[in-house]
Amino acid sequence: MKLTPKVLARFDDAYRGQRWWGDRPIMNPSSASRSAGVPDPAVESVPRLVGQSEPMLKLAARIAAVSARNSTVLIRGESGVGKELVAQQIHAASRRAAGPFVAVDCTTLRDTLFESQLFGHVKGAFTGADHPTLGFWRAADGGTLFLDEIGELSLSMQAKLLRGLQDRAIVPVGGVEPIPVNVRIIAATHRNLEEMVRRGEFREDLYFRLKVVRLDVPPLRERMSDVPSLARYFLARLSALYEEPPKQFDASAIEAMTAYTWPGNVRELANAVEYAYVLAPGEILTAADLPDEVRLAAAQRQSSAGDAIVPLDVAERALILRALTATQGNQARAARLLKIERRRLYRKVRQYNLQPFTIRRVSPHERTA
Ligand SMILES: Nc1ncnc2c1ncn2[C@@H]1O[C@H](COP(=O)(O)OP(=O)(O)OP(=O)(O)O)[C@@H](O)[C@H]1O
Ligand SMILES: [Mg+2]
Repeated sequence: MKLTPKVLARFDDAYRGQRWWGDRPIMNPSSASRSAGVPDPAVESVPRLVGQSEPMLKLAARIAAVSARNSTVLIRGESGVGKELVAQQIHAASRRAAGPFVAVDCTTLRDTLFESQLFGHVKGAFTGADHPTLGFWRAADGGTLFLDEIGELSLSMQAKLLRGLQDRAIVPVGGVEPIPVNVRIIAATHRNLEEMVRRGEFREDLYFRLKVVRLDVPPLRERMSDVPSLARYFLARLSALYEEPPKQFDASAIEAMTAYTWPGNVRELANAVEYAYVLAPGEILTAADLPDEVRLAAAQRQSSAGDAIVPLDVAERALILRALTATQGNQARAARLLKIERRRLYRKVRQYNLQPFTIRRVSPHERTA
């Protein structure tokens, strides 16, 4: 559950009038979310990191190693791979576990409010600042500050963040005295920060400060052996959550799930399991109960062995994927190969969930090449 600026503002509301200035406020993100009226879907306080594949075992070992230390960690991986879960695991296994875990979604921070959102402000710091605020940084004192989607910060926000990281003490907007804060920083991004540094979009000094320890969370398609255990875990969690009798997958469902490439990674798998759980009438879930794109993948795998006639959309998806592979994800060139309009291809890419196989941004060099 994220502590968005809105949720934090409610915190500041809660602290208003209390003797919090100079004191370390006690804050627990899960009770924070509840107090803000957000239901807490987790059955466990920190969900388990499921997966026995080689890359996951390696990751678990690295999580254990970094948890024991205070190093700044940079977590990288595609959308939905479990970056935030990894950050929660590090916090929960660290000596700071009793302290707060404050997750900040950097895409919601605004240039003009950045310092106040992060470092807080004193009363009267600017017009409309009727009450002092704590800011995310001090809210995480004694715990972990998780900066999610760090690659989305503007250059000016990056400069301000760097100052906080260097000083390990912060001055609230309008304040004078630096306040020492004891936080451990974990950042995450789905972006290639090295590439952004080369293009001048991300400060090199900030990058070096963040990547002291780098953890890469591999996409689900590179650890397909984890799919059945993850699917069963999510299914069991749903029964526990709804206090309903357990449900099971049959072999066809497991086969379909292991044939699909999961461009949306673990999050997409969790959603597919919930879809089947909610809509299937019985207690045994089959391939037919899964979302269309997952079912189609299974049908596609069955047909790839021979020359069987397959549904047109199955064949179309496979052909587009081949064109994207041949052009290293360049959609403009793939459209030319397929002799269709670029916009039509964009539509199909979205329809078949093929975005991860495309290049999202074309750099100026490629555009003129
Ligand atoms: N190995 C895992 N075991 C159990 N649950 C997992 C695992 N990986 C991810 N999840 C679950 O999948 C969902 C998505 O994970 P998470 O939010 O950590 O991903 P993310 O990489 O931060 O995604 P995004 O980039 O979209 O923010 C969460 O509900 C998380 O608990
Ligand atoms: Mg995330």
